[in-house]
Amino acid sequence: MIELRNVSKSYNKGKVKAVDDLTLVVRPGEIFGFLGPNGAGKTTTLKMIVGLLKPDAGTIAVNGLDTQTNALACKAMTTYVPDYPAIYERLTGLEYLNFIGDVYGVPKADRLRRIEKWLEIFELTKAVGNPIQSYSHGMKQKIVLTAALLPAPRVMILDEPMVGLDPRSAHQLKELMREHCDQGKTLFFSTHIMEVAEKLCDRIGIINKGRLIACGTMDELKKLDAEPDQSLENIFLELTET
Ligand SMILES: Nc1ncnc2c1ncn2[C@@H]1O[C@H](COP(=O)(O)OP(=O)(O)O)[C@@H](O)[C@H]1O
Ligand SMILES: [Mg+2]
Repeated sequence: MIELRNVSKSYNKGKVKAVDDLTLVVRPGEIFGFLGPNGAGKTTTLKMIVGLLKPDAGTIAVNGLDTQTNALACKAMTTYVPDYPAIYERLTGLEYLNFIGDVYGVPKADRLRRIEKWLEIFELTKAVGNPIQSYSHGMKQKIVLTAALLPAPRVMILDEPMVGLDPRSAHQLKELMREHCDQGKTLFFSTHIMEVAEKLCDRIGIINKGRLIACGTMDELKKLDAEPDQSLENIFLELTET
């Protein structure tokens, strides 16, 4: 569970208000999709949840623990995939995964079993012995996703995780996201792909200029539109029109 209460964040000494009084709850067992135009405040929100940025105001709790006062405990149960796969390029894929396994204290036996499974799914088995700097963007993204799955975290935060993935890998990722949530765990991700959000998410939040302008199930969002049974794309375009 993730709870954001009246969270605000500005850059440049208050000149750029990136997130404005955001209140939002992501429940256990649900896939929550975060949509918004470029610059809406999605990445800033996700970075505050994982502790990379400090909110100017408001509170964030992960499974009931405050991310400011219980930072380490929150980080230990959360994994995060940033919008760009920035990883240790000189390590091999396997060294990187083992490093993440060490950081999160994943037992050796579980580690191997899980790594083998996901490398197979993402077709990385042959590349895992090579340095990450030799990987394509998509391969880097898949190694970061494997690393995020490795600790079997209670909470996963993914910033535009489908970017750079081919259709098969994107499909596998969607299955893994559903599997994660079916275990009663929490998943919060941002995306620009309306079709993914519409099909995959249990609930969707739409953010524009730092403010949450809509939040709910697909059926609830449809009710916000004057015309019946609009696609998420149409609802999104209408709500975020400037
Ligand atoms: N490091 C930064 N310094 C100054 N402004 C930033 C920085 N990062 C983001 N912003 C600004 O904050 C707002 C929200 O950005 P961001 O959270 O990246 O949005 P999104 O992920 O939805 O595209 C935008 O106006 C963006 O220009
Ligand atoms: Mg972003």
